[in-house]
Amino acid sequence: MQHSQLWTVLAAVLLLTTVVHASRDPERVDRSIKSSVFLSPPFFLREGSVENKYYYDIPFPRGHIALKSFNAEVVDEMGFSIPLHETYLHHWVIERYYGPKGTQVDRSSSKFISGRNAGVCNYTLGQYFGLGSETRKTSTWIPEPYAIEIGNPTEIPSGYEERWFLNVHAIDTRGVKDKSGCTECKCSLYNVTKDEYGRSLGNNYIGGLRCCYDQTQCQLRKGFKGGNVRKLYLRYTVKWVEWDETMVPVKVYIFDATDNGRNDRYSCKVEYQVDPCDEQGFGNGGCLDIKKTKVAIPQGGDIVYGVAHQHAGGVGAALYGQDGRLLCSSIPTYGDGDEVGNEAGYIVGMSSCYPKPGSAQVSDGELLTVVSNYSNTRLHTGVMGLFYIFVAEPIPQQNLVLPRAQTQDKSIMHILSSSPWVAEGMNYWWAFVLVGGIMAVVIVISYRRKNVGQGYQTL
Ligand SMILES: *[C@@H]1O[C@H](CO)[C@@H](O)[C@H](O)[C@H]1NC(C)=O
Ligand SMILES: *[C@@H]1O[C@H](CO)[C@@H](O)[C@H](O)[C@H]1NC(C)=O
Ligand SMILES: *[C@@H]1O[C@H](CO)[C@@H](O)[C@H](O)[C@H]1NC(C)=O
Repeated sequence: MQHSQLWTVLAAVLLLTTVVHASRDPERVDRSIKSSVFLSPPFFLREGSVENKYYYDIPFPRGHIALKSFNAEVVDEMGFSIPLHETYLHHWVIERYYGPKGTQVDRSSSKFISGRNAGVCNYTLGQYFGLGSETRKTSTWIPEPYAIEIGNPTEIPSGYEERWFLNVHAIDTRGVKDKSGCTECKCSLYNVTKDEYGRSLGNNYIGGLRCCYDQTQCQLRKGFKGGNVRKLYLRYTVKWVEWDETMVPVKVYIFDATDNGRNDRYSCKVEYQVDPCDEQGFGNGGCLDIKKTKVAIPQGGDIVYGVAHQHAGGVGAALYGQDGRLLCSSIPTYGDGDEVGNEAGYIVGMSSCYPKPGSAQVSDGELLTVVSNYSNTRLHTGVMGLFYIFVAEPIPQQNLVLPRAQTQDKSIMHILSSSPWVAEGMNYWWAFVLVGGIMAVVIVISYRRKNVGQGYQTL
C-alpha cells in the first residue's frame, strides 16, 4: 500500500504545518477562516414586553464545514448595539435539526428530526451554542485543531437537509418599575396567573421562565406611558472553515446544576431559585449558595473548551472529575458602566476555559460534579447554572508509544499539545520538528500495519 502510505505522510505534513501556523493567534490561523454575519428575523419590543420566539431554518453557513465560534448581540434597525439595561438578553440558543427538503417544519412536526448535541439533558438543552447577557464578552472560539463538524452528508437523513433553529428570549426593561425583578422574571411583576400552557404556577413558584414567556408584560413605573415599539434583531457572527481530515471533531455537552441524574423528562430543571441567606449565613463569612450535582458523561475524551452560563448574582461555576480534580471553571465579569458591553449590574462576560489538550481528560461514564455558586445576599429567581464542555476524542497517544520512535513522538506531541497556547519562537525550529514528525509517522504506520483496528484514526 505504497500509495496510501505516501498520502498519509503528506497528510501528516499538512497537519503539522497547519498546527504550527495555527498556533500563534487563534483568531488568525492560516486555515482560511470564514466569518459570516447574519440577522435573525426581526422581533418587536415595547417597554416592559417580552419576546421568546423560535426561528426555524435560520441563515447559516452550509456544506460540510467546521464551526469555530458563534457570537451574537441585539441590534436595532440601524445596526446599533442595544444595551442590556434597555433590552435584557435573557438567552439565545442555536440548535441543529433536519427538515424534509422543500418543506418547513418546526419542533412539533413529526417530520422534524433533531440533530441536537451529545447530551446530557436528554429532554432539553440540545443546543450547540447558547448564552445570554454575557454574550458580548464571552469567547466561544474553539482552539485548533478542534471544531464542531457539521453538514457531513453521511449524517443527513436522505430526503432531508440540515438546518438550524434559533430561540431568542429578550425582555424590554425601559420604563419598568423593577429592572432586576423583570430580568429575573418575578411573577408578581408580570401579567400572568398561569404559565404559557395554561397550567397553574403553584404557590411556591415566584419567578422564572414560566412567568416571562412570549408576549407577557412586565410592570411599568407608575405613570409611565410607554408604547414605544422597537424593531430589533439578533445579529450573529459564525466563524467556520471548510471541513478537512486534519481537524479533530468535538462533541458538545451541557451539564445543568439542577440535573438529578435520572435522565428523565424532569431531571434537568434548567432554572432554580436562590433563597436569601439568613443571619447565620452572614455570620459564616459570606452568603453563598452552592448548587451541586453529579452526572455521568456518556463518552470520555479531552475537554478542549468550557464555559458556564449564569445569571446576575452568579459568582462562578466549575466542573470536577470523579476523583475531585478540577476540570474547568468559568467566572462571570460584571459591568460597571452605562455603555454597551459594560452595563452595571449585569453579567457581561463569562471566562471560558481552554485546558491544554490532555490535561482535562474524562473517561467514558465518569461521574462529573457540576458546581454553580451564587451570592445570596438577596433572593434570585430563575437563575441558571449550566456548564458547556466541548470534548474531543484524545489525540492518538496510544499510536505513538513505540519505543524506537519516542524522541520524535515527543516532538509531535509537543506541538499538538501546545497549540494554540504555544510559546513564541516555534517557527525557528518547526522545520526540524516536521522532519522528525514525518519519520515518526512513517515508523508509526509500519507499526500500525501490524495493529490494524487499534486506536483512533486522525491521519
Ligand atoms: C438519552 O436518550 C437516549 C435515547 O433517546 C439514550 O440512548 C441515551 O442513553 C440517553 N442518555 C443518557 C445519558 O442516558
Ligand atoms: C399581558 O399584557 C400584554 C400587553 O398588554 C398582552 O398582550 C398579553 O396578552 C397579556 N398576557 C396575559 C397572560 O394576560
Ligand atoms: C464555589 O464555592 C466554593 C465554596 O466557597 C468554593 O470552594 C469554590 O471554589 C467555588 N467555585 C467557584 C467556581 O466559584
